[in-house]
Amino acid sequence: MPPPPEAKGAPLVGVLPSVLSRGLEAVIREQHKELGSVFTLRWFGLAVTFLVGPECSDHFFHAPESEIGIDGVYDVTVPIFGKGVGYDIDLDTRNEQHRFFAKMLRPAKLRGHVPPMEYFGKWAESGVVDLKEEVDHLLMLIASRCLLGKEVRENMYDEVASLFHDLMGGLHLISMFFPYLPTPGHRRRDRARDRLDEIFSRIVKARKVSGRVEDDMLQDLIDSRYGSDGRATTDTEITGLLVALLFAGHHTSSTVTVWTALRLITQPDHLRAVMAEQERLILMDGGVNVDYGLLLQMDVLHRCIKEALRLHPVTQMVLRRARKGFTVRGKEGGEYSVPAGRLLASPLVVNGLLPDIYKDPHMFDPDRFAPGRAEDKAGGAGACSDLAYLSFGAGKHACMGEGYAYQQIKVILSHLLTTFELKLETSSFPEPENMLSMRPKGKV
Ligand code: HEM
Repeated sequence: MPPPPEAKGAPLVGVLPSVLSRGLEAVIREQHKELGSVFTLRWFGLAVTFLVGPECSDHFFHAPESEIGIDGVYDVTVPIFGKGVGYDIDLDTRNEQHRFFAKMLRPAKLRGHVPPMEYFGKWAESGVVDLKEEVDHLLMLIASRCLLGKEVRENMYDEVASLFHDLMGGLHLISMFFPYLPTPGHRRRDRARDRLDEIFSRIVKARKVSGRVEDDMLQDLIDSRYGSDGRATTDTEITGLLVALLFAGHHTSSTVTVWTALRLITQPDHLRAVMAEQERLILMDGGVNVDYGLLLQMDVLHRCIKEALRLHPVTQMVLRRARKGFTVRGKEGGEYSVPAGRLLASPLVVNGLLPDIYKDPHMFDPDRFAPGRAEDKAGGAGACSDLAYLSFGAGKHACMGEGYAYQQIKVILSHLLTTFELKLETSSFPEPENMLSMRPKGKV
């Protein structure tokens, strides 16, 4: 059986010059059109096989870890999350830590974490703001309430927010290949990580000594126990797990909030539909307290967020490694043999725009997810309908924070849209920032 077709490229550097000049997303789209749903891109010694569409993604998302692994593909996160957590540890321990996350992020826990209106007190009557910056700040405040704990919120919010900023800022294209290269950004990242360790170790120790129990996720992590031997989480693990959650949830939620707001500002019909729902649910009810139950009823807003995320996924692709060779049949009918060890990619930037699943895929059309249409559930995805909408991933590594993310985003957008009339200052609709960050470019 032949290997997947390969994109043409110069000797050694392969497709790298095209990626650098036109961007990875454009190259993936172009090769998908030219070579079909299964193809390989190569540069220097690295070969990545792309699998586009539900028909050839089943093995990628659903095969057992012994056949398709996630280990080693996100090593860039190890110096950010720290030792003893995430991709620095064996699968069994990571599964245990994900069990802690699942418990912390389950709907019953989230109910208590809907942030009160006090967070929005700083918004003025009118003015010009950079929505990206404002939403980042707001989400950090929400995280300080739900995740990081009152010690941080009351005494060291500014320091911790700035340390997280340095930690995230240490992620550049070069980090993907050389995460430990002593660049200024990596040095700042490492200093920030060490300082966060000091801060959280002190907080955890103080809580343990005083016997005080708080209602936040930090407490959940302190109280978590490994099923294998009943041991408690260490202070270093607790810091690492907090950082991992913030990393997974902060920029992602912020990016989606801003793209959704941008889409609504520029498409008045959909904004009107959202406002009608808000009025029905909140304003007519005379209530100001948006609680968890009310958020769950915001179906129109939900669909707008989901649609913005389809058009603007937070990452260009998710990655895996083939631990064993396998055969894949492309949508076009050809069968290919993928060797063991091959890096695999599911490009979300293409998967969300497939015309046989999504009608007029480049249009912002939230109603495509409404009952009756549900394009992601019916349509072209056939038997693999859970693979038609991949913005939160799928299978065993699917996003664990989806419910939490929708909750945060809805709280912010609901308040923003019912309290302010928004207008875009720039003349054109923003592009995504770059290959690593799918945030809108420039001030918004
Ligand atoms: C709109 C916001 C978000 C988006 C679009 C998003 C997207 C994703 C995607 C695509 C994956 C799969 C990665 C892969 O398959 O390699 C993922 C995994 C994950 N997400 Fe999210 N995420 C969001 C918010 C959050 C939040 C708020 C949290 C927690 C507070 C969170 C926690 C996680 C975790 C723990 C995983 C890893 C699951 C695993 O490897 O088993 N995410 N997310």
